Amino acid sequence: MQPSPSSTEQILNQVRQLYNHYPFPPQPIGTLPPPGWNWRWSWPQAYAFCTGVHPGNRPVRILDAGCGSGVGTEYIAHQNPKAEIWAFDLSRKALEIAEARCQASQAPPVQFRELNVYDIDQLPGEFDFINCVGMIHHLPDPKAGIQALASKLAPGGILHLFVYGELGRHEIRLMQKAIRLLVTGSEHQSLASLEQLQAGLKVGRSLFQILPDHNRIQQQERTRWATENVDDECFADMYLHPQEIDYTIETLFELIRASGLQFLRFSNPEFWQLQRVLGKDESLLAQASQLPEKERYRLIELLDPVVAHYELFLGKPPLPQQDWQSAEAILSAIAHLSPCLGLWPSRSIFNYAYEAISLSEAAFAFLQQVDGIRTVAQIQASLTPALSCEQLEQLLRWQVLLLQPPE
Ligand SMILES: C[S@@+](CC[C@H](N)C(=O)[O-])C[C@H]1O[C@@H](n2cnc3c(N)ncnc32)[C@H](O)[C@@H]1O
Repeated sequence: MQPSPSSTEQILNQVRQLYNHYPFPPQPIGTLPPPGWNWRWSWPQAYAFCTGVHPGNRPVRILDAGCGSGVGTEYIAHQNPKAEIWAFDLSRKALEIAEARCQASQAPPVQFRELNVYDIDQLPGEFDFINCVGMIHHLPDPKAGIQALASKLAPGGILHLFVYGELGRHEIRLMQKAIRLLVTGSEHQSLASLEQLQAGLKVGRSLFQILPDHNRIQQQERTRWATENVDDECFADMYLHPQEIDYTIETLFELIRASGLQFLRFSNPEFWQLQRVLGKDESLLAQASQLPEKERYRLIELLDPVVAHYELFLGKPPLPQQDWQSAEAILSAIAHLSPCLGLWPSRSIFNYAYEAISLSEAAFAFLQQVDGIRTVAQIQASLTPALSCEQLEQLLRWQVLLLQPPE
């Protein structure tokens, strides 16, 4: 059921109040660019992950929707220095911090706007890449929110989405209700005023002081969340939130259907492998593999109910899909080096997913020639000996080498 306009306004005001008082995330501002990378925020790497294809060097526009205090925005700006970058949030305080953060580390320019996602049409143009982490599940009407984002995604664009999962947040939900009950007298009554939020923080902190070690809520907090919840901003985001909708695979796919976008991939694909949960029984694995895609994911989360969030890519067609099975296609493609490599240039590097990789001498020599201009065949012709097909395929599997089909 959709909330009425007056309750929508009320919820948005409460959400704004929460983040103005506890801007999220609370990471300190630094003068250096963020350490390492997050490949999910690198346009070429994310696009290649979704489609198998490097997008080339065309100009792109990127939007960080619900950017909060700008930790993600700062990464996006440093990782995509040639893109036109925009970011918006409901909370003025969070935006002030985000701007200061990007300025302090001398990030490429970002256009920041104070904006409710429902008013997204106030932003000019469409975006090739939208990042939306942690916002949709805090909206009074998430379907309207994701439809608003979809309306701003350019054809051929991708959307990175992060929403909460119900199964892995069970104990968090119980604690949220307990705090509400103690502060407002009703588990259904959200913490509406600043005084109630502050009282909720005090009550919540006290409860974690006294719950015994073997208590399930306490155990979950200690093993999964306590490190970040040292900060009041994180504690408030987790336990005091006035608006939260958690998803299961079934409701997540309903949200995706409502968006009108295409599901591309989870951005943590290793979790969603049937092999991981059923690998010890070949016949069960074979049986489960017959299920349609959504049901396979549902089975995985039912058998391993730890999912506290889903992270995934959606896309707006037309999008290419290339698996580089043909040697001819590989040879005629333009070769690009992954923008997310650690310790490059060296034979021992980290790929986009921080996996340690040892390159053969031939693979190292090949990659040193990769310039985003020449084709694989042209590079191969300049090398003696040329790289074997198997080694080329390995570089593709590692996503160290990204390929762009010729025009
Ligand atoms: C949990 S924080 C996530 C911040 C950031 N994306 C990150 O992951 O670090 C959620 C953010 O969404 C923003 N937000 C919530 N509802 C919004 C709305 N209707 N329009 C725009 N931003 C909203 C909040 O103000 C808050 O800063």
